[in-house]
Amino acid sequence: MLPRNNMTSAPIKTATQSQEDLKAIIAPIKEELAIVETWLTTNLIDDNPFVGELLSQVFQSGGKRVRVAIALLGSKASLIEGREMGRLNIIQAVLTELIHTASLVHDDVIDSASLRRGKETVNKRFNERLAVLLGDLLFAQASICLARIMNPVVVGIYGQVLGDLCAGEIKQMRSQFNIEVNWEAYINKSIAKTASLFAAGAHAGAILNAAPDLQVQALKDYGVNLGICFQIVDDLLDVTGEATELGKQPGSDLRAGVITAPALYILERDDETAKRLRELIKTRQICTDEGSEEGIALIKANGGVEATVKLAGHYADLAKQSLSKLAPSDARDSLENLINYVLIRTK
Ligand code: FPP
Ligand code: MG
Repeated sequence: MLPRNNMTSAPIKTATQSQEDLKAIIAPIKEELAIVETWLTTNLIDDNPFVGELLSQVFQSGGKRVRVAIALLGSKASLIEGREMGRLNIIQAVLTELIHTASLVHDDVIDSASLRRGKETVNKRFNERLAVLLGDLLFAQASICLARIMNPVVVGIYGQVLGDLCAGEIKQMRSQFNIEVNWEAYINKSIAKTASLFAAGAHAGAILNAAPDLQVQALKDYGVNLGICFQIVDDLLDVTGEATELGKQPGSDLRAGVITAPALYILERDDETAKRLRELIKTRQICTDEGSEEGIALIKANGGVEATVKLAGHYADLAKQSLSKLAPSDARDSLENLINYVLIRTK
């Protein structure tokens, strides 16, 4: 059973403050981040100008590079004294972002999404076949990065992640419009589709740095818990967010019958509110404008938002606890501040 009480509440901050926070968070890895950025926006450009344009569209679309920051900070926090970050740490960060971007391009095909980060998705601007191929091309680039890293343990970790991402999406697809409340299944799906890549990003650099097992494990635990927290916040924003700030249509999970934490908190009740939400889902009224608006209103009026914020706070606390096993450093402080940055999105 998931804990319900004594959980952290998200701090209240504005969007501008959160941008300032991000600047401070990435300060210890500023130079490495710039190299990764150049790699993603320049080195990947294909000989074919059309493919080159597609690649620059997906990488210059205002992504916050949260996974890149996690990878570089995890690498920096696990450096053996006197050592510097190296080429392999950079490639591991690039690899993590490539897999993330590829999965989003494919996810937008699966969701038939027309907007991502406020811009037209590749499937909307061109077509689904092209988006599938672009996603594949990005996965191919990720394989080249893995080959350059030449570490079989890291190859195994990222191979597992690719499988987990697909399995997570399949689990989600198979449970659409399912009104049964199964928290374990929800968390496991969130680990597969999101936290697995966060965990790989956070601890693979420590493996490359030959850091002690305790540190490698601490970073892995950090990544898993932060990833779960991130997905819960993402699920919450689908209920509370505005199209302008989300860069995509809110309410799209509910409309597609994807039942996440805010709705689960209502469905687990034994009252008229739960009965009505179940009915909206079972009859597919939830797929309509009125039905999804009513569903969102039920969640908001019956504590679904507050309970979800607390649940995200619980995983944020677990992520914070994992960091205590790392030696104090500016990179460790940034990893901690990154947790707050993820939670701030709930405001
Ligand atoms: C966004 O979820 C999507 C993911 C976190 C992962 C998607 C993974 C795949 C499509 C499988 C990847 C394929 C291979 C070959 C590895 P969301 O829909 O909840 O978030 P969104 O609101 O940002 O779209
Ligand atoms: Mg999606």
